[in-house]
Amino acid sequence: MDKYVVFGNPIGHSKSPAIHRWFAEQTGQRMEYSPLLAPLDGFADAARAFFVEGLGANVTVPFKEQAWQLCDVLTPRAERAGAVNMLSRLDDGRLRGDNTDGEGLVSDLLNNGVDLKGARILLLGAGGAARGVIEPLLEQRPAQLAVANRTPEKAQVLAQAFAELGPVDALSLEHLEGPMDLIINATAASLAGEVPPLPASVIAAGRTVCYDMMYSAGQTPFNAWAQAQGASRTIDGLGMLVEQAAVAFRYWRGVEVATAPVLAALRGL
Ligand code: ATR
Repeated sequence: MDKYVVFGNPIGHSKSPAIHRWFAEQTGQRMEYSPLLAPLDGFADAARAFFVEGLGANVTVPFKEQAWQLCDVLTPRAERAGAVNMLSRLDDGRLRGDNTDGEGLVSDLLNNGVDLKGARILLLGAGGAARGVIEPLLEQRPAQLAVANRTPEKAQVLAQAFAELGPVDALSLEHLEGPMDLIINATAASLAGEVPPLPASVIAAGRTVCYDMMYSAGQTPFNAWAQAQGASRTIDGLGMLVEQAAVAFRYWRGVEVATAPVLAALRGL
């Protein structure tokens, strides 16, 4: 049986096995997809052992950067992202890495009817999660992609790294001015139950869409804050998770999948 896994630590909470099993059922693909807990200091060994037989893997926290280092071949977007969430064993045995997070985010935004072309977008955060989505967002030709981070120097480094690809700049959180069309939270603040310190003026009541790349059973802290400021819509990252999985599934299995029923099933769990 063709074998796939998702690597992480912890990994018990991961929704990826359920998502891929739904895709497999939907498309009649015979395959196995399991969670694989790698030791914190033993990702490379675990990955090498798996790929003796395994065909593909997703990679989640905290191994995305280590996975990037392990690859023999990187897609251009993964090269720039500095992190991979998807590994595939090529026919010649080499390990290929891709980063499908940004494509997943863009697909979910478009599924939700969010206009990206010509939009003023604010991206909060400058860690691996933010880095992975900048290139796919710029491909949608926004008018501006402003990156703001608690530690401003990191936002500047990111903006510089992607400057040749489009209108990306670094702004400081305190000095943000004027309403944005779309605000994407790529910080880990929600994990601590916190919201990045933002002026309320970045939200235009009834117009600004807010997207938290995190998801939780209830509203995330960021989306609750955004809703209280009058954001026109708040969206969590569950759709992004399903879409990034779909990119991997299509590549591995060479078949189309429908994501909407899988997202609906996940929401109903
Ligand atoms: P990830 O791979 O999830 O992006 P990371 O590389 O550790 O993880 O980055 C976490 C991001 O969340 C950073 O942008 C971090 O800001 P700093 O660069 O200043 O550390 C941001 N972050 C984490 N907790 C935060 C909080 N409570 N408020 C605001 N930003 C926070």
